[in-house]
Amino acid sequence: MKSLKIGLVAAVVLSMLSCQRTAPVNKIDISGLWKFHSGDDVAWSVASFDDSKWESIKPTDVWEHQGYKNLDGFAWYRFKVVIPHSMIDNAFIKDSLQIKLGKIDDYDQVFLNGELIGENGKTIAGKTNPRPDFFKGPSQWYTPRRYTLTANDPRILWDKENVIAVRAYDSGGAGGMFSSPFEISMIDLSDHVMFDFSQSGFNFSGDTMISKQFEVYNISSREEFRGTLAVAANRCDNGLELFKQETVLNLAPGIHTKYTVNIKKDNAVPASITFVFREYSSGKEVKAVLEMPYILTPAPGKAPRINGARVFGVRPRSPFLYTIAATGEPPLTYSAEGLPEGLHLHAGNGMITGVISKKGEYKVKLKVTNATGCAERDFTIQCGELISLTPPLGWNSWNVWGLSVSDKKVRLAGDAFVASGLISHGWTYINIDDGWEDIHDKNGNILPNSKFPNMKEMCSYIHSLGLKVGIYSSPGPRTCGGYEGSYTFEEKDAQHYAEWGIDYLKYDWCSYGGIAPNPTDRQLKFPYQEMKKSLRKVTRDIHYSLCQYGMGDVWKWGHEVDGNSWRTTGDIEDSWESLSGIGFSQDSCSLYSAPGRWNDPDMLVVGWVGWGPNLHYTRLSPNEQYTHISLWSLLAAPLLIGCDLTQLDAFTLNLLTNDEVLAINQDPLGKQARRALKTDEYQIWVRDLEDGSKAIGLFNLTGNPLPVDVRLEDLGIKGKWMMRDVWTQKDLGLVQTHFSMKVLPHGVRLLVLRKEGTKK
Ligand code: GLA
Repeated sequence: MKSLKIGLVAAVVLSMLSCQRTAPVNKIDISGLWKFHSGDDVAWSVASFDDSKWESIKPTDVWEHQGYKNLDGFAWYRFKVVIPHSMIDNAFIKDSLQIKLGKIDDYDQVFLNGELIGENGKTIAGKTNPRPDFFKGPSQWYTPRRYTLTANDPRILWDKENVIAVRAYDSGGAGGMFSSPFEISMIDLSDHVMFDFSQSGFNFSGDTMISKQFEVYNISSREEFRGTLAVAANRCDNGLELFKQETVLNLAPGIHTKYTVNIKKDNAVPASITFVFREYSSGKEVKAVLEMPYILTPAPGKAPRINGARVFGVRPRSPFLYTIAATGEPPLTYSAEGLPEGLHLHAGNGMITGVISKKGEYKVKLKVTNATGCAERDFTIQCGELISLTPPLGWNSWNVWGLSVSDKKVRLAGDAFVASGLISHGWTYINIDDGWEDIHDKNGNILPNSKFPNMKEMCSYIHSLGLKVGIYSSPGPRTCGGYEGSYTFEEKDAQHYAEWGIDYLKYDWCSYGGIAPNPTDRQLKFPYQEMKKSLRKVTRDIHYSLCQYGMGDVWKWGHEVDGNSWRTTGDIEDSWESLSGIGFSQDSCSLYSAPGRWNDPDMLVVGWVGWGPNLHYTRLSPNEQYTHISLWSLLAAPLLIGCDLTQLDAFTLNLLTNDEVLAINQDPLGKQARRALKTDEYQIWVRDLEDGSKAIGLFNLTGNPLPVDVRLEDLGIKGKWMMRDVWTQKDLGLVQTHFSMKVLPHGVRLLVLRKEGTKK
């Protein structure tokens, strides 16, 4: 690691530099309409094939959104394009051409003029016969498709028509080409020289110093680039310069260099860092702007405060576990008045355990005391058929560890819930996703693989911390990760889960697509009903989480199969495109969400993620992360942290421990927010809360700060309202008729409006 040396500071005025990377030389846009056909025939790769009768399709969106609902399996895309030789003459770097094809869900083979040039994101260098089983192994839906050919590759027909044919295979859920960019260009400076900010987080020291490590790569194996690197940090509110350095940078082929910048900044202030590499000979620039984290959540006080769900559902005779979530200076002592018969509270740790045998509604008063005082809160236990009366708050292994999850990593996540204090804010579930399974033995018992030596012991350990445990399976013979599913073993599997002490089951469609290709509505429900019957036979409350990416509008019928939550979309990743695409598409299913029946727009992508085993710091900007947590809270979504909890930084912890934000998510009324207003630039979402107040999210969809004017009538309210900023937990005064607020790029203002004169 090197420290960034100060070089020539003089001439560069960073704020005057353009925000865009220099446009690639002679780019050909191929994002227009392609030809499309479902099915599979390798003859469709041949340039002369007549595709004139095929349908037209946009490559930038999955085929389900373009009239091919529930289509799984193979389909082909074709596009014709002339590639002019002048692109080489005009290029700064003349040796390679690249074809960028956005992303492809799940697998692909790409042919240029009948020859295979790429497969699942990897360029095929020479003449090769297509691998018939290219669609096996882990899904590649999130891999950007960039195929690079040398300029003298005979598969390119310069100055002639070229035919690109894409053979796509979708293993379930959304399918086909999507995202961006779709273009053909010569390799340019910005394809070789890159900044990477995701190999380290931001380190805070004290309240005013932040350090950030970043990396600069030259991925070219031949070209050397000489130039200057300028780094500057500015506050977002008044533009004030916080930091500025410039250094000479010679980037040898293949070089990969780490730098650290130390910037003095108040932790609460939004600021951004601009990085510009300027290449001497061409004058070309590669530029990146990085937002710095800013902490809004006030630290919990010394006085006791009770957090977490205020209402809790349990079935008669099921083992009960609820841990009172409270902050305050330790030691804390817990007590409760009005606990129903069969329940017991552990005064030292706040765990309520036991069994209730009689159905009914039990009103309890929780108390937490320490040396500074006492906090009280009403708590309702509803003993009946419905569980998960508020959305689950927890952790899931998938977005961080992928298939590399293990007993050790699960225990560490549990320990981190306690050590970091997440448990004191209501976080409860520690969920194992795919990758724990071995096989069913000859008696039909599901065996965990060697990474999970003793499931029962592991569950007891997590329970002893006051937390709950989740597991994952598929109604098909195989899970999405290729492990053993529950097909035909539903009853035995459910019994094992109950025996081990499992509290949550995520049940993922995946290979069931092989049993019911192009499923009817009845077939969509059937496997979920089978597992429902099995889960209801065990005397244990197991949150039932359906995962089939929203097929057949699952939000309309998920409750019929006893689902407590259901995924409404495909898998999330840590990009604005994915986050905003998913988050802002949740209005149409809003009315179907209710206590015990939650829409699930997928798990959180803050902190160290990576789908394992190699992790990176989330690529979402701090503003985007505030948007993520705010929107998911308004949507009454299950909040499942998907990061390495042993590496929680101060910013991520601030996102996850704001009790007023979490209180919106956990509001007992259980109503999901609706979109009240939508323009090209911003959206306003409103959620009704149990006490009559309104939670409001003002979301800026643009890349610039935006003033948002809000008329109370757009929110469906009138009169005088007390406005509170939820992240900073500060009252902003009375509003009436309208108000205006600045919202940061891709950011949010999360507010609660309380009718004047009503009690908090
Ligand atoms: C699917 C799900 C993910 C994860 C993986 C596991 O892709 O949508 O959330 O569970 O399967 O293989």
